[in-house]
Amino acid sequence: MKALKRLGARRAAVLPLLAVAALVTPAAATAAPDAHDAVRASTLGAQAAQSGRYFGAAVAAGRLGDGVYTGILDREFNAVTPENEMKWDTTERSRGSFNFGPGDQIVNHAVAHGQRVRGHTLVWHSQLPGWVSSIQDANTLRSVMNNHITTVANHYKGRVYAWDVVNEAFADNGSGQHRPSVFQNLLGDGFIEQAFRTARSADPAAKLCYNDYSIEDWNSAKTQGVYRMVRDFKSRGVPIDCVGFQSHFGAGGPPGNFQTTLSNFAALGVDVQLTELDIAQAPAAAYTNTVRACMNVARCTGITVWGIRDSDSWRSGENPLLFDRNGNKKAAYRSALTALGGTPTTQRATATTTATATARKSAAPATRSAAALPSSFSWSSSGPLIAPKPDSTHDIAGIKDPTVVYYNGKYHVFASTARAAGYNLVYLNFSDWSQAGSATHHYLDRTAVGAGYRAAPQVFYNAPQRLWYLVYQTGNASYSTNPDISNPNGWSAPRNFYSSMPDIIRRNIGNGYWVDMWVICDSANCYLFSSDDNGHLYRSQTTVGQFPNGFTNTVIAAQDSKYNLFEASNVYKVQGTNQYLLIVEAVGSDGRRYFRSWTSGSLAGSWSPLAASESNPFARANKVSFPSGAWTKDVSHGEMIRAGYDQTLTIPNCRLQYLYQGLNPNASGDYNSLPWRLGLLTQTNSTC
Ligand code: XIL
Repeated sequence: MKALKRLGARRAAVLPLLAVAALVTPAAATAAPDAHDAVRASTLGAQAAQSGRYFGAAVAAGRLGDGVYTGILDREFNAVTPENEMKWDTTERSRGSFNFGPGDQIVNHAVAHGQRVRGHTLVWHSQLPGWVSSIQDANTLRSVMNNHITTVANHYKGRVYAWDVVNEAFADNGSGQHRPSVFQNLLGDGFIEQAFRTARSADPAAKLCYNDYSIEDWNSAKTQGVYRMVRDFKSRGVPIDCVGFQSHFGAGGPPGNFQTTLSNFAALGVDVQLTELDIAQAPAAAYTNTVRACMNVARCTGITVWGIRDSDSWRSGENPLLFDRNGNKKAAYRSALTALGGTPTTQRATATTTATATARKSAAPATRSAAALPSSFSWSSSGPLIAPKPDSTHDIAGIKDPTVVYYNGKYHVFASTARAAGYNLVYLNFSDWSQAGSATHHYLDRTAVGAGYRAAPQVFYNAPQRLWYLVYQTGNASYSTNPDISNPNGWSAPRNFYSSMPDIIRRNIGNGYWVDMWVICDSANCYLFSSDDNGHLYRSQTTVGQFPNGFTNTVIAAQDSKYNLFEASNVYKVQGTNQYLLIVEAVGSDGRRYFRSWTSGSLAGSWSPLAASESNPFARANKVSFPSGAWTKDVSHGEMIRAGYDQTLTIPNCRLQYLYQGLNPNASGDYNSLPWRLGLLTQTNSTC
C-alpha cells in the first residue's frame, strides 16, 4: 500500500500495455532447498488440503439447521456432496418442472464456507421418477435425458466442481456388462457416452465422473467392465475426467488390492476419488487402510464420507462413520486424520490460546500430485465482505491491505484502516465468509502495537519459534510477535528489521515510498521483500535460525517501469510443486489497479512471467465476473488464502482465493480517504 495521497490523481499517460517486464536478478540464483515443511493440521479438510486433496461429507439439506451437525461440517470438511438433493426425483419430479431449492441450500452453504461441491447425480436408474422409467420411446428418452443433464448442469455451473454424470450403470452379476435400466434398455450401451458428451457441453469446466460401488476390487468383473469403458472413452476422446469409487465397505474394509485398482484407473488418465465412504462398525484399521490407499495414489484427489454422524448415515444401524451420534470423534476419525498426515487433537477448546502446531520435515510422497499453476487465470468475485467500522475514537474511511490465515477453524484477518490523517491496523476473525461483515473489529492502536503510522500488515506463524509474526510498514519494516493470534492484546511493541533504509533502496527510490514488507522462508533462509512505488522490488535475506535479525544483502529482485511494478507484492510457495509465485500490483492504462504474476524455482532466483501483462493479467477487474454486482474496477492490495499458516506461505496449487481491496469506481478525492472495502476472488479456471 502507498503511504501518501499522490495516487488520487490518476495519471492519464498511456503505459506500454503489453510490456512483459524484463526482470533482472542481480544476485545469482541460488538453488533453494525444496522445503516440504508442513505443519500438521488438526482437521480432516485442512490436512487433506496440505497434499492438494479434499475431504468431504455427504450432506442433507434437512440437517443444516442442526448446529452440532453444521459445526462439525464446517470445521472438518472442505467438500460436500448433496446426499439426495440433486437426484432426478428431487430436481425434475415431473417433466420439465425443475426444483433446485434443496440443492441450492447445500450449495449456498458450501460456497459460504469455502467447500467444494460434488454434484450427485445426473443419470441413475434409482431415485428416478416414474414418468422417466415409464418412457417407452428412445427418441423421447434421449431428449428427456439430455434436457435433464443440460438444465441441471447449467443451473449449478461455476459452483459444482465435479459431477457424477452417470451412477451405478454396471451390473453386479459377474458379467462385466451394464445393468438393465430404462436408459440401457431404450438407448443401448451408448447412453453413458451420450450423457458425458451432453454434460461436457453444458458445463465445460466441471470434472465429469463415472461413479459406482463394488468396483474397488481389481479382480472383480464389475471393476474390469468399468475399466474397459474408461479405457475406451479415453482412447476415443469421450469426455471423462474421473472415476468415483463409492467405497461402501463391510467391517473388513477395502479389498487388499484397492490401491492397485486406484492406480490402474489413474494410469488411464483420470482422477480417482473415494466418493461415498462408510465402513460397517468403522474399525479404525479399516479406515487407515482406505485413506492410505488414496494417499498413495497421486491422482486420488479426494475422499468423501457418506454422512457425518452415525445417526446421519443411511446405514445408521452399522455405525459406519467418523463421528458418533453425539458428534464426538471416534477412533476411526483419528485413524483417518493420521493417515492423511495430520495430528489428532483432543484439545480444540484450548487450541486458540496457544499455537500448538509444530513444523516437521515431512518428505513429500513420491506420488504427490504436482500440478503447476496455469498460465492464465479467471476469477469470480464476492461483493464487498468487510467494510470499515468507525467508532467514536476511530474515524475510518477505508479498510485496506488485508493479510489472512485460516487457523483453528477461523479466518484471522489483519488490515490497514485508512483516513485522511493516516493509517493504523485492525484485527478481526470469523469462522466463514458469511460472518466476515459482522465480526468485531479490534483496533491495534489500543495495544502495544500502538498508534501512528502502521500499515500493510502480513501475518504468519513462525513454526520453529512457535510464535506469530505481524510484519508491517512504519517508514521502516517493522514487526510485532504474539503467542496467540486470536488475542489482539498479545502483540509486542513494534521492532524494526533494519537499522535504517538499505543503501540500494535509498539510491533507487526516487520520489517513491518504501512500502509493503513481506517475509517468506524456505527451509534455510527467510527473505524480506519490499517495494518503492518506483518500479523496484527489493529482497533482503537472513537465515531461518537468525530471523527476525540479520536481514542483509538487499538486492533488486525485479524491476520495471514504475506503474508496471508498483507495490503490494506477495510471494508464495505453491503446494506440492517446486514453484514460487510472485504477484505485484500494477496500475493499468485506465488508472485501475491490477495484479501481474511470475514464478521462480527458488526465492532468490529470477522471476519468469506467468500472467504478467495487462491483457493477460493475474487478476484484473475487467477479467473478473461479479455475480453479485460489479462493485469495483480495482483489484488492489490483498492476500491469498493459504493452504497452511506457517513461514513457508504455502498456497494451494488450484482453486486459488484472493482477499483484495476494491472500491466504488465513482469514489474520488483524497487517496487516504477513499472508501476501500474487502472482497474475495475465487479462481474459476482450476484444473483440479
Ligand atoms: C442413498 C442416500 O444416502 C439415502 O438417503 C437414500 O435414501 C438412498 O440413497 N449409492 C449412491 C448414493 O450413489 O446416492 C446412495 O445414497 C447410496 C448408494
